Amino acid sequence: MTEEKSFDLVIIGAGPGGYSAAVRASQLGLKAVCVEKHRNPGGTCLNVGCIPSKALLYSSELYSITRQNLSLHGILVGDLKLDLDVMMARKDKVVSELTAQVKKLLEANRVGIIHGTATVKGENRVEVKGNDGTKHILNSRFILLATGSIPSSIQGLEFDEKKIVSSTGALKFSEAPRRLGIIGGGYIGLELGSVWQRLGSEVTVIEMLPQIASGLDGQIGRALKRALGKQGISFLLKTRVTHADKTQKGVKLTIVTEDKEETREFDKVLVAVGRKPLSNELGLEETGVKTDRETGHVIIGPDFRTSVASIYAAGDLVHGPMLAHKASAEGKAAVEAMAGTFSDINYDTMPHIIYTSPEVAAAGITEEQAKERKIPYAAASYPFSGNGRARCTEQTEGLVKIISHSRTDRILGVHMIGHGVSEIIPEAVLAMESGASSEDIARIIHGHPTFSETLMEAAAALQRLIKK
Ligand code: FAD
Ligand code: NAI
Repeated sequence: MTEEKSFDLVIIGAGPGGYSAAVRASQLGLKAVCVEKHRNPGGTCLNVGCIPSKALLYSSELYSITRQNLSLHGILVGDLKLDLDVMMARKDKVVSELTAQVKKLLEANRVGIIHGTATVKGENRVEVKGNDGTKHILNSRFILLATGSIPSSIQGLEFDEKKIVSSTGALKFSEAPRRLGIIGGGYIGLELGSVWQRLGSEVTVIEMLPQIASGLDGQIGRALKRALGKQGISFLLKTRVTHADKTQKGVKLTIVTEDKEETREFDKVLVAVGRKPLSNELGLEETGVKTDRETGHVIIGPDFRTSVASIYAAGDLVHGPMLAHKASAEGKAAVEAMAGTFSDINYDTMPHIIYTSPEVAAAGITEEQAKERKIPYAAASYPFSGNGRARCTEQTEGLVKIISHSRTDRILGVHMIGHGVSEIIPEAVLAMESGASSEDIARIIHGHPTFSETLMEAAAALQRLIKK
């Protein structure tokens, strides 16, 4: 059966980029439809990314606190047991509730979802091979490509999602692997490494660079490595995997650290070496949509338009950090550009968060970038150990660091490591967006006792430095 319909906008992919664009399109009066090949909307983020990982991070942290830290508060727990099936079922429930919410959101905005795989067949035409066998021909004034990304693999370590897994496999182990090897010390390696270390695995992170999470401010990166190391995660830096053999028990890796070669055996290996844009199945070449030949990203201009005027792209599919909030901001801005309204995204203040314990949250430039760009700057930090609330809750690890322009005091970057800093970073983002100075933050009255006072104290420390 073939169905043919016409729209103002066809969106391919119902992840954060696609579904946010769909809602904005409806608000702006465009007749839109989403095509999604997965049975549920929400994309990588809701189904196999942000949401299930954060659900497991929370559950595993509760387990770890109960096992190790409750006695500090005089709470003694008897025979503590882990029921991983229940933990996984809760995670799955959170995912299904949130994807159902996205479905309802699209319905409420009168945006339909066609379940199937879309290909672009022309500048105003999309064909969908429906999951139920129906073929759909969709004619549209605009097309938005929002197909996201997939995990990158390493040659010789192809995913079987049993012994060699991607993040998707590592979100559903049926038991904690005794020895978990993780290739890549980035976001996924550190977050999922934390989950499984807390649940009992011996975790080794193999990272080719000299530091983990390499984009972080150096001081924060070093503090994170120390904190995770103390929890029991082992790091092999400047290390590459040169060979892998599957064994009966697991996977034997040959690794080279600088010039030293050795083998290590793991029960499971998580390969988390980045993700690549999913652009090759869309028929873009035939339509004239240009992609970056090296990376596969769809190339767009500042208005999110590709090399074909009616076709736009957003999210992980285009260059920039692969983050859900970046995807949704771009999806909305792309639709606003189609509708001819003003749209602008300030990537310079976009927050980056790693949901380990302690959490890391950052926005703006790092101290290393300030030096490299020869910007005159001043930097100061304040430790959570000096914060009253942190002391009350025994969450004293970490610090807040502020970097501001040494002549104007305009805030250039804020970098935090500590409990709950993901909820403090928006204050720094708002300050930077508003062109605030560190003096502004130092003078704003913060509630007491709160973790956010550490940001105020770091700003006050910076004031003392600048005014010396
Ligand atoms: P996606 O979410 O990947 O959505 C693309 C959608 O397009 C998918 O549903 C896919 O099925 C569909 N699709 C693809 N091709 C077709 C086709 N031909 N036809 C029809 N449909 C198609 N980001 C954060 O900001 N915070 C986090 O905490 C975070 N945690 C993460 C944890 C993990 C384990 C992973 C893997 C990622 C995480 N991310 C996080 C990244 C985040 O998930 C992505 O940046 C975000 O999902 C990108 O959104 P998107 O809409 O561009 O693409
Ligand atoms: P990543 O880019 O964060 O980290 C990959 C790491 O692997 C890097 O440190 C890199 O140097 C290392 N690496 C690459 N090749 C290697 C090799 N052959 N051997 C050893 N190390 C190697 O990528 P990751 O962790 O896979 O995550 C993908 C993306 O998903 C992230 O970049 C991020 O955008 C997103 N994400 C975001 C989260 C968040 O916002 N909290 C959480 C999880 C994922």
